[in-house]
Amino acid sequence: MGSMGGSTAENIGTENGHASAADDGVSAAARADHKGKAVATASALPLEVGARVMCRWRDGKYHPVKVIERRRTQTSEPGDYEFYVHYTEFNRRLDEWVKFEHLDLDSVEMDVDEKVEDKATSLKMTRHQKRKIDETHVEGHEELDAASLREHEEFTKVKNIATIELGRYEIETWYFSPFPPEYNDCVKLYFCEFCLNFMKRKEQLQRHMKKCDLKHPPGDEIYRNGTLSMFEVDGKKNKVYGQNLCYLAKLFLDHKTLYYDVDLFLFYILCECDDRGCHMVGYFSKEKHSEESYNLACILTLPPYQRKGYGKFLIAFSYELSKKEGKVGTPERPLSDLGMLSYRGYWTRVLLEILKKHKSNISIKELSDMTAIRAEDILNTLQNLDLIQYRKGQHAICADPKVLDRHLKAAGRGGLDVDVTKLIWTPYKEQG
Ligand code: ACO
Ligand code: ZN
Repeated sequence: MGSMGGSTAENIGTENGHASAADDGVSAAARADHKGKAVATASALPLEVGARVMCRWRDGKYHPVKVIERRRTQTSEPGDYEFYVHYTEFNRRLDEWVKFEHLDLDSVEMDVDEKVEDKATSLKMTRHQKRKIDETHVEGHEELDAASLREHEEFTKVKNIATIELGRYEIETWYFSPFPPEYNDCVKLYFCEFCLNFMKRKEQLQRHMKKCDLKHPPGDEIYRNGTLSMFEVDGKKNKVYGQNLCYLAKLFLDHKTLYYDVDLFLFYILCECDDRGCHMVGYFSKEKHSEESYNLACILTLPPYQRKGYGKFLIAFSYELSKKEGKVGTPERPLSDLGMLSYRGYWTRVLLEILKKHKSNISIKELSDMTAIRAEDILNTLQNLDLIQYRKGQHAICADPKVLDRHLKAAGRGGLDVDVTKLIWTPYKEQG
């Protein structure tokens, strides 16, 4: 059984390293003594939605949370509420229902106008500040405007489906996904791992598996290398599969709108194949025609397969398709925190490997032609690594081998390789 979430948070969620309520030495009164905030006393319980309080997390330490929602538990004792909390230091995928006893009631603060204030401040930040926050806090919503952000957060504030079963994995979900209303009462869904139909009960899935004749995604196998295969699925030809995939993917993608209009997309499904069939590891979607030169709309590696290099494989694959089309490409924005980390790692590795060979005698345009990476992304990547200098009003790339090696080391592992000789594909053409 696979599960996830914990490792993610430990790696990127706790970087700010907040002290626990027990050991930070700050009294509740002092903590609440901020402008515009009123202290709620323990007698005002159960806690109101919007309250800020310290909460014991799975690492055993206390972290600041905001109460998003509350509900009564089965018993009707006064303290028998559960609270849906957002850990303000962490990404929303770690929001969860917690029991009353996890909360440190001495630390309760009630915010009056914080929501408006917080967002207004964040929207006034400069790009540089945003980038800094993105690097440390990795929240991933900086490119949405205030109104869309509020609407998005209100509508998706509480996760609906808590776990899914898919093939041999039971997977905890990360975010809300707008399943049809008849699934409103479900906390767990059972997916057929091949056609991606989802069901409310295990017995339904078992019955389905007896008659489902798919053993791999519908569509064409366009790549096979050892046990790895890629399938191209046309959303117009396989509408239900495309929609099922979007519902599933949304459970792990926060800020992507669910496209009902799957006709306009191609889906590239990465599978690990064995004698039982081709098991989905991850996928990316791509618009058939993108005016903004997007070569990838959404990318996902299913949690049990994450951090094994599949994400960078999918990214590399999307650029190989762009090369075959003779175009440069870029992923659709906004990128999530994990999306940004993966893309930065990929871009750094690809560009620096080339720079090592060519020294500095290469232009951004040439790099872009060789890699199909959009010039702006190249410039940003190299600027972030401090490898761009201005000489006589022009960009010059610094390619000191020692500096390049240092950055390459920091860029993490390379990911699984795409062997282009095994890709059999022609760019999409409208038929009829
Ligand atoms: N903590 C810290 N760094 C991480 C983590 C993590 N939990 N996960 C990935 N990274 C970074 C690392 O730098 C990693 O490289 P490394 O392992 O060599 O250090 C790099 O990202 C990518 O690693 P891969 O193993 O190649 O990628 P993975 O298979 O884990 O997939 C992906 C990355 C697709 C972004 C995955 O995290 C995911 O599906 N996330 C949820 C959906 C999502 O956010 N998608 C991107 C949205 S943006 C868009 O769709 C355009
Ligand atoms: Zn099926």
